[in-house]
Amino acid sequence: MPGNLSSNSIQSTENMAPTVPPAAAAPSSSPFPLEDLAWQCTKNAVLVSQYLSSENLPQPSHAADGPSTVLPASAPQNVRQARQSLMDAALQLFQLAAGPSEFVPNLAPGVQYISCVAWLIRYDIFHLVPMSGAISYTDLATTASRANSGVTIPEERLKSIIRMAMTSALFLEPEPNRICHSATSSLLARDADVHSWASYLSTRSAPTALAMTAAHGRFSPSSVAKNETAYNVAFNTELPFFEHLKQNPEGMQEFAGYMRNVTTSDGLDIKHLVNGYPWETLSGSGGLVVDVGGSTGNAAIALSRAYPDLRFVVQDLPENADAGRKAAEKTLPRDILERVTFQGHDFTQPQTVEGADVYLLRMILHDWPDHVAVAILKNLVPVLEGKDGEKRGRGKILIMDTVLPAPGQVPSAAERIVRVRDLTMMQVFNSHERDLEQWRQLLEKADERLRLARVIEPFGSAMALLEVELDTSSGDDDDDGFQQEEEDDEENWDISG
Ligand SMILES: C[S@@+](CC[C@H](N)C(=O)[O-])C[C@H]1O[C@@H](n2cnc3c(N)ncnc32)[C@H](O)[C@@H]1O
Repeated sequence: MPGNLSSNSIQSTENMAPTVPPAAAAPSSSPFPLEDLAWQCTKNAVLVSQYLSSENLPQPSHAADGPSTVLPASAPQNVRQARQSLMDAALQLFQLAAGPSEFVPNLAPGVQYISCVAWLIRYDIFHLVPMSGAISYTDLATTASRANSGVTIPEERLKSIIRMAMTSALFLEPEPNRICHSATSSLLARDADVHSWASYLSTRSAPTALAMTAAHGRFSPSSVAKNETAYNVAFNTELPFFEHLKQNPEGMQEFAGYMRNVTTSDGLDIKHLVNGYPWETLSGSGGLVVDVGGSTGNAAIALSRAYPDLRFVVQDLPENADAGRKAAEKTLPRDILERVTFQGHDFTQPQTVEGADVYLLRMILHDWPDHVAVAILKNLVPVLEGKDGEKRGRGKILIMDTVLPAPGQVPSAAERIVRVRDLTMMQVFNSHERDLEQWRQLLEKADERLRLARVIEPFGSAMALLEVELDTSSGDDDDDGFQQEEEDDEENWDISG
């Protein structure tokens, strides 16, 4: 039974009790499920608050000067897990307290929040509300009308939209009819990339998601064509996503902002690649890494800084390879430039660099339906085999991508973020994220000898590292040698980002 836990009952972060394991967050058999969930909320909230106090960090707040991130990236793992458990229990508590009869009415606010964000961005309201102090709806409507080249923004409509948004912690009304920023709306006003992300989500992702059923009706639910997607229906185009986006510089800019946010979020931070794989074992011998689809070299540059003996070839479409080379020549010191080279290469064609230690595929295969992903992998097999077909014993493929959890394996607050990515891949590319079994099947389809040697799940990473070897043995060894590793022996389900 839940008891009383005051914030004084835990004295230091050293003594923190283990957080509630994910499975316990679904107490369907509990005689008191509401109380149990509330207890989990309290227990984990205390852990987080206590940590923040002990580190002299601000407590979470909706006030305009409230912190935009609850925990710093350096927060210990148990505190980060406590925050995840807290969010999960709070979400489940809300769902259970609302009950099935209120499921449908509670879908509506989510739709309206997205609609409000799109409108608030369209009329630049985040930037028109002063960063400090409050403004009346009357003055804001006048300012917004002026800022939008004389388009009349009626005060009553502005008020309705802002008051809806306010129920989701966007803006505050500290006194009747005057509004000011909240911590969240202030972040959207200050950070151009977060603003672009919100714009991209509300004007592209949301219409795309809503067009999924129509797309499956117009084409087929099983289409894997890149231009028969929900995106094609929502934006009335026959072009695949990236080609369509290229035609619209503003859309491209928004997408770049979205990608910058995605790639700088903790879950996708490059540190998980740098620290998550034993690169030092290749380092002594001046190992060679080919970053296939390595964009403008972000991963290779980070790795080259951490491992001064490694050499890299970054391959991407010619425009990206050129842009990467030019940016590198301008900004990087000689010792890095000497070890990182850029090469235009289409990964749907056979690999041209032989004898590398690692062929890295980071966030590549999830963009592609199985038949293309299989072709990309097939193109790497000959360079693992070597020219004479003999076992080289060193070249590996390293895939860094999402591994979908089984339902309920991670807290639902975290699982739903991964499932958003899975559906986004389907709706935009007719592709999908893969679970471990689907990864195995993909490798087998590419070549029966491709073997998943180990899966490393760095703590806090939204993606796992899948090390793949070409097995050139006779095949009568029963031991498949597979290893699954989670960092620090802790449950690894902090997949924020
Ligand atoms: C999602 S990004 C991943 C970039 C990078 N690996 C990373 O981890 O940040 C996919 C990359 O694949 C590249 N790409 C798409 N089609 C390609 C092709 N046919 N050949 C080579 N690169 C391609 C894109 O230009 C882009 O840089």
